[in-house]
Amino acid sequence: MSGSRLIGTGSALPRRIVTNAELAERVDTSDEWIVARTGIRQRHIAGDDETTSTLAIAAARAALADAGVDAASIGLIILATATPDNTFPATATKVQAALGCNGGVAFDVAAVCSGFLYALAAADSLLRTGMAKRALVIGAETFSRILDWEDRTTCVLFGDGAGAVVLEAPSDDGDTRGIIGTRLHADGDQHDLLYVDGGPSTTQTVGHVRMRGQEVFRHAVVNLSAVLREVLEDTGLRPEDLDWVVPHQANARILDATARKLGIAPEKVIVTVDRHANTSAASVPLALDVARKDGRIKAGDLVMLEAMGGGFTWGASLIRM
Ligand code: ACO
Repeated sequence: MSGSRLIGTGSALPRRIVTNAELAERVDTSDEWIVARTGIRQRHIAGDDETTSTLAIAAARAALADAGVDAASIGLIILATATPDNTFPATATKVQAALGCNGGVAFDVAAVCSGFLYALAAADSLLRTGMAKRALVIGAETFSRILDWEDRTTCVLFGDGAGAVVLEAPSDDGDTRGIIGTRLHADGDQHDLLYVDGGPSTTQTVGHVRMRGQEVFRHAVVNLSAVLREVLEDTGLRPEDLDWVVPHQANARILDATARKLGIAPEKVIVTVDRHANTSAASVPLALDVARKDGRIKAGDLVMLEAMGGGFTWGASLIRM
């Protein structure tokens, strides 16, 4: 029996687009530097009336419409975010209330940029136990609210957005679609390479993103290529069997280097970092939705999702669409 099936995707972006040229008016940077080092050309930034929950709700509604199912059938909502509306309650409960499907399970997952992979694995596991029949798995972020807009080494890298998928519990009807294999990892020793310098229990402030970029880059390529290999080995598949890779959109150079290490053709890698920048937990489901809606990812395709983020945390999940 395959794992849970992905039956719909959706996404949402803030209205306002901020170009590299606009950022160059605020900090000492340039479009040329940002494009050459990261591949990013623009990002969407939330306005005053846009929050992590409003983006998550819009993405969730789009995913439900795409799946053609009613919100009332959703018994589980897992929302990955590092930028919740409030410290508590979970932003997932706000999504639940907005969709009008109260009574099921709803909680947030904090694994930063790999949060969606963690949330997907948790949802797949809970669906397999019979906890619910259908789940919404959402990655949603307003990272712009935790950026130090004076720090050119971080503020140019991130954007806001949300992506969502509808997952259905596996059944033994012989259908081979669904989640085939997943691996997750964390290494708490690497805390200081990428973190936020605030929080309720330490500074009682929200804090700002701090990062040692070059070291994060090096770890990302090593960890991501290793976890992709693990999932391929688990499932008895080779890199050339993959139809698509949907990576966390941190930096075009990380995407290129990881694909090269595994011998995956660059044209099989979905890239949205140029338009969305790094939207943390939202980046994988956003890119997945873009590539499904533009017709590249089709039913039956073999798709590898992968991400790494602060913690460090990282993971990969292989899905037959
Ligand atoms: N504009 C212009 N110059 C800049 C900027 C900027 N925005 N930012 C840094 N610089 C300068 C630095 O100050 C440095 O100047 P110096 O040589 O005078 O000291 C120079 O550019 C080179 O800096 P490096 O840090 O060596 O540049 P690098 O090539 O490593 O690129 C980057 C920096 C883009 C951050 C890269 O290290 C990276 O992408 N790392 C991965 C980080 C990442 O993706 N984090 C996201 C979260 S984790 C994840 O999602 C996997």
